[in-house]
Amino acid sequence: MAGFLLGLAQMIILAIETSCDETSLALLECSGPISRPRFKILKHHIASQIKIHEPFGGVVPNLAKREHLINLPILYKKIVGDIKSEEKLWKKIKFIAVTSGPGLEPALWTGIEFAKELGKRRQVAVYGVNHMEGHLWSFLASKNGRMAVKAGLSKQFPAVALLVSGGHTILLKMTAIDKWKKLGETRDDAVGEAFDKVARILKLPYPGGPQIEKLARLGDENSIIFPRPMIHDKNYDFSYSGLKTSVLYYLRDNPQSKPENIAASFQKAAVDVLIAKAARAVKESGAKSIILAGGVASSKYLKKNLQKKARELKVKVFVPEFRLNTDNAGMIGIAGYMNFLRGKKHSLKANGAMEV
Ligand code: KG4
Ligand code: ZN
Repeated sequence: MAGFLLGLAQMIILAIETSCDETSLALLECSGPISRPRFKILKHHIASQIKIHEPFGGVVPNLAKREHLINLPILYKKIVGDIKSEEKLWKKIKFIAVTSGPGLEPALWTGIEFAKELGKRRQVAVYGVNHMEGHLWSFLASKNGRMAVKAGLSKQFPAVALLVSGGHTILLKMTAIDKWKKLGETRDDAVGEAFDKVARILKLPYPGGPQIEKLARLGDENSIIFPRPMIHDKNYDFSYSGLKTSVLYYLRDNPQSKPENIAASFQKAAVDVLIAKAARAVKESGAKSIILAGGVASSKYLKKNLQKKARELKVKVFVPEFRLNTDNAGMIGIAGYMNFLRGKKHSLKANGAMEV
């Protein structure tokens, strides 16, 4: 009965994301029970700080904080419009969802304080959201996710989720959309971090992932055999720091080698490990689908190769559309709603190392 009632009720959520170098606000209309969640992203704004952090080759936490403080009120204005529409909107907003971890704590606090202040002023609840749960569930608002919901979400499980970003490389076994167990994760660098560091070695701008992918298209991915760390280990952990070091030494010892060949060979090594481990997890868990998410899921190369493997394994792949892949508030609103349905509350204290 509760599910039926929730299925009818629609709610508007204001979502805020400031965990790293993107300030983002979104307004979502959410409805349906956890077995049939539906999302309509009504408004979505992202202010990227890439240009500001680029000279440093990575995100500088205090600069990120300063930029979030500048951008938050600007994006808020874009979402609410003039005073009249702002008043009208607040009559409809059910709660505010804000990322409280994992991420850079000075950056996280800016979003949390902004949300708390708004919540107090407008008398609406504020809920903390786990950023990685945002990545995990973001596919639900994409075309293939909506189709899966229509066909019956429970039919897609068990599933394996591969969460790949600048800060995380995690494999999950999911028995339902809201139930999972961590199979493994990186022991050192995240895969996105490895792309960013190798880009720096090759003197490419930040963030490195898209730059490496672009350069790799011009190269031969079989020209250099880089190590595939932990690919044969009988666990689901990853390690990317040694691969980055191999690239560094290779370039030192072969200064004349073509950067496009290094980029292509590195990309292949990094992605081979992700696919091999995800495939083994699928086989061992009898998964029916793979959920791929996080900034690195923007990689066409990764998507293409994972889809190829998935066809062999006869499983489906769910990937969020591009704008929901890299950090954004849309996914935070989605996770806010999912947790609201589950009755799960994350703390409103910034937790840089929050576990998924
Ligand atoms: O999820 P995200 O926006 O931020 C974090 O939560 O970390 O992920 C950003 C990461 C960066 O490391 C970036 O280099 C990587 O995603 N990335 C890619 C690609 N596009 C973004 N990595 C490989 N290939 C890409 N095309
Ligand atoms: Zn992220």
